Amino acid sequence: MDASQTTTPAPAPAAPPASAALRSALAARRAGHALPQAFYRDPAIFLDDMRHFVMAHWHCVGHASMVPEPGDYFTADLGGESLIILRGADGQIRAFANVCRHRGSRVCTEGAGKARNGLLVCPYHAWSYDLAGQLQNARLTAPDFDREPYGLKAVALRISEGTLFVTFAKAPLDFAHVEASFGHAARIYGWARAKVAVRKMYSINANWKLVAENYQECYHCGPAHQEYSRRHIFARPETQRVLPDQAMHARDAELGIGLADIDHFAQDAAPGQESADCSRSALVAGFATGSRTGSAVAPLMGDFKGRDFDGGFSFLDVGPTSNFVAYPDYGLIYRTIPLAVDRTAYELIWLVDADAIEGRDYLVEEVMWLWDHTSIEDKKIIELNQAGVNSMFFEPGPYTAMESDTARYVDWYVATMQACL
Ligand code: FES
Ligand SMILES: [Fe+2]
Repeated sequence: MDASQTTTPAPAPAAPPASAALRSALAARRAGHALPQAFYRDPAIFLDDMRHFVMAHWHCVGHASMVPEPGDYFTADLGGESLIILRGADGQIRAFANVCRHRGSRVCTEGAGKARNGLLVCPYHAWSYDLAGQLQNARLTAPDFDREPYGLKAVALRISEGTLFVTFAKAPLDFAHVEASFGHAARIYGWARAKVAVRKMYSINANWKLVAENYQECYHCGPAHQEYSRRHIFARPETQRVLPDQAMHARDAELGIGLADIDHFAQDAAPGQESADCSRSALVAGFATGSRTGSAVAPLMGDFKGRDFDGGFSFLDVGPTSNFVAYPDYGLIYRTIPLAVDRTAYELIWLVDADAIEGRDYLVEEVMWLWDHTSIEDKKIIELNQAGVNSMFFEPGPYTAMESDTARYVDWYVATMQACL
């Protein structure tokens, strides 16, 4: 399952030039400060974001265990597009635009399902597609109608340790850095042999960049996330993290897990590469994992099996929208999904070991408790942030030391957008 696969992407149209609104918003931007209002409110800049930033990158859409059998599919939204992720008769997982080749209807209307009789049938006029996306039947067309050019449009898909990534880019960014960084860590945590315990979608009335900026910093954790902060040293200023982190690294070395070498931060990949970074952080003494009680919520995964908890966890980030949190007993996929200028969703997907049995080895409500709780809190603070940003009194303030990752993320976004002017 962990072998990478690629489908040939449909040629994407060349991106149109950036908007005048983007040009003036970039000119008004003050380095080291939150972005000017237009970045979070202007529909023209949202389109620029999608065309020039989001669509150029790789995005996690889920896990291979979500489509265990040939014919299984799920749909994934991103930036106004809808994709079908489908396991073919040959066992390969492919991604297709959820757009019928007749007159453009959505083909799959459910979030997940199984192709009946090996076919996806469009609900409008019943054109049907096989599990490789080829058009099989087009009702009442001429006997010599050539179906071959009317297959569903394929979108590039890669699998790293069971985790599914797609991109809309005409020339997809090289994936090697993702394999070396994210893939290496996910392998240690055993994610290729994981399954989805539960998924949940959260809808946020805010621009997607406020969601991304919020995820990148823990300056807000103290005031906004009491439960998270009681469990994670990461919520504290850097000077207070040094000793617990050292103890975590020592424990990791003692157990022979080998995670020490993934502890680095590198948001900016080399030109032509996707960004991917990992960082490690200690848990507060008395908490083995990110759970309500601090005790395990599921069996140990990957290289932790037969060993023990190491007193820490890992943050893994890929591209602009895909974040992951790995504890020794469960994993979390955290997808930021831009939908419209003022509407974003995030989907959380909790992973446990493939052999774990619900009810016996884990309880869904305990696996999801901490991050569900934290994400509900995040929805509230992000929506309050958007409300204030919309005000005529809003003036972008400075990022602080504990928001350095957010500042980096915004610099990366700004540099990309400047390059497309
Ligand atoms: S739009 Fe799909 S069959 Fe007509
Ligand atoms: Fe948060």
